[in-house]
Amino acid sequence: DVTVHRDPERLRRVVRALRAAGRNIALVPTMGALHEGHRKLIREAHVMQNTVVVVSIFVNPAQFGPAEDFSTYPRTFESDVDVCRQERAGLVFAPEAEDMYLPGATVTLSPGPLGDELEGASRPGHFAGVLTVVSKLFNIVQPTYAVFGEKDYQQLTLIHRMARDLDFPVAVVGVPTVREPDGLALSSRNRYLSEEERSAATALSAALVAGAHVSGGGAAAVLSAASSVLAAVPSVDVDYLELRAPDLGPAPENGDARLLLAARVGSTRLIDNIAVLLG
Ligand code: PAJ
Repeated sequence: DVTVHRDPERLRRVVRALRAAGRNIALVPTMGALHEGHRKLIREAHVMQNTVVVVSIFVNPAQFGPAEDFSTYPRTFESDVDVCRQERAGLVFAPEAEDMYLPGATVTLSPGPLGDELEGASRPGHFAGVLTVVSKLFNIVQPTYAVFGEKDYQQLTLIHRMARDLDFPVAVVGVPTVREPDGLALSSRNRYLSEEERSAATALSAALVAGAHVSGGGAAAVLSAASSVLAAVPSVDVDYLELRAPDLGPAPENGDARLLLAARVGSTRLIDNIAVLLG
């Protein structure tokens, strides 16, 4: 059965004993409101034999801007623990904010220039908040593997870089985005959408697919195909639509690239991305 721990020191001790007994530790960081996308991460975490999966559930105040949805972010703890049990996670780590951020804590992690681009341009400080909490989770849990979704592609990229640049002894594993049958990427924030907004929101994935479909024609063709799908749905207010290299550097002329999109549908901000092969 799954055991729930609130206290970081307790969790650290339990994980250390499991590691000493020869188990691999895989960490799946989440903010709860678990859906099929999170389930897929937990399943992926089980791929290695002999693994204990630790799911962290923590709505991290440090990654929300003052005008963002921290206070209204969905909190569904009991059903989240059920999901973890169903997916055979061994441990749930669910700290309170005061367990994670001690009074007077001021040291944070800096994402570098990529932290101010794409999502970071609209959400100042967001990635510093994400990397700070993920580095704390890595230090508390000391996992061999840590699993993240491609849904948050820039987050996944920055966590890869953090592990590399700061020598975290953890293998960061990315998992493809889980989608609704009509293409909408699963997200805890989808529950904010009204019926009309939900149907308008399909324009995001439709635009990415339209772009990827003409990728043989190069960057201009991709961006124009994706923009016209978005332009046809006035209730979708695009924040950015950008083509980048897979590491989020400048897009190449030919070869592997990533098309990334953020848009507001009503008051809900949604993101999505897709792999494209240019040229
Ligand atoms: P959260 O939004 O709860 O997402 C937790 C993990 O689930 C992330 O790695 C995210 O990319 C992945 N995920 C979300 N939707 C997905 C989907 N449709 N398909 C596949 N994976 C999906 O991302 C966060 O929380 C936080 O920033 C966190 C990393 C926990 C740090 O606070």
